[in-house]
Amino acid sequence: MTKKTIAVLPGDGIGPEVTTAAINVLETIADKYDHHFTFQQGWIGGSAIDEKGDPLPRETKEMSAESDGILLGAVGGPKWDRLPGAERPEKGLLEIRKSLDLYANLRPVKAYASLIESSPLKEAIVANVDFLIVRELTGGLYFGEPKKREDIRGETQAIDTLLYKASEIKRIAERAFQAAQLRNGKVVSVDKANVLESSRLWRETVDDVHASYPDVELEHMLVDNAAMQLIAQPAAFDVMVTENTFGDILSDEASMLTGSLGLLPSASLGSTGVGLYEPVHGSAPDIAGENRANPLAAISSAAMMVKYGFKMEKEAEKIETAVEKVLADGYRTADIAPKMEEAVTTTEMTDAVIKAL
Ligand code: NAI
Ligand code: MG
Repeated sequence: MTKKTIAVLPGDGIGPEVTTAAINVLETIADKYDHHFTFQQGWIGGSAIDEKGDPLPRETKEMSAESDGILLGAVGGPKWDRLPGAERPEKGLLEIRKSLDLYANLRPVKAYASLIESSPLKEAIVANVDFLIVRELTGGLYFGEPKKREDIRGETQAIDTLLYKASEIKRIAERAFQAAQLRNGKVVSVDKANVLESSRLWRETVDDVHASYPDVELEHMLVDNAAMQLIAQPAAFDVMVTENTFGDILSDEASMLTGSLGLLPSASLGSTGVGLYEPVHGSAPDIAGENRANPLAAISSAAMMVKYGFKMEKEAEKIETAVEKVLADGYRTADIAPKMEEAVTTTEMTDAVIKAL
């Protein structure tokens, strides 16, 4: 029997509804495969501000750091929108990523055969889309110093710094090659090496790392071309690795290939061994508390936890197959239902997944 402690941080809005769904699925998996999962709940985000006066209370941080994996819902909502940056719900999320050094953000993008008709792109283009974006999450433009405003001769100017150390590039490249070994053995590294010095270092470093992964095929692609290829022939990608800003933009672009935000999971992995698993979507305040949220992104995030965090590949595949089955069987929450009156609730969708398991 394998024992794992899972920190559950439901957060705000639909966060509690979708994390409950994921817990139920994980409990089913534990029963089925004779594992023992212990769930510990913690505050984060707006609800943590309300309850504890801090978007990431110390006890949440400690509990998370000591866990084997963190399952997060979403944070934020209109109630906290007027707070200054340093006190906002998002601060809790940024801080937990930073404190656990979660530098690798993995986002699978997969077109479910049964949902292809709801993609904004032609079926022929979206069919067989199944790739993984590996985005560097703790470096680059969002964190580089100097980062400031200043007045120069009567004019205001602002500076952000795009800085990467070779060691930061090396570790994310390793993650990408390792992920490709578990998939179809192809990495596309995205940069802007024709213009940016940081991208030239990126490219050289990725080439160096590639030498240790001769079984993986590597291609370099400029980011503007990558933006086009994601629309022109998305099925050609297997693993895409890129720096923070490019990854932010390209992963949102890619998320639209498959139809709904409610389907997409993510994993953020770091140097400490504890990963954070969360749906890509936000707290969806417009439908919170109505039992209408699509739980599949959170459930697929739980599948990523067992796969990447606990190395339980069979169990992960079981969850993935169950998700595919409920979609193929026609279960649709409101976000993906062609007709509202045919939509199932969050709990009905979750029960269907559990039944499929
Ligand atoms: P959102 O992802 O919460 O919602 C966008 C739209 O998609 C809404 O119409 C929502 O109802 C729908 N939607 C999202 N997830 C869904 C699901 N599982 N099932 C069915 N429908 C779903 O993004 P939005 O509206 O921009 O942000 C709302 C709040 O969430 C804001 O406070 C924002 O800051 C926060 N947010 C938090 C994130 C996180 O915690 N990682 C990420 C993105 C936004
Ligand atoms: Mg973004």
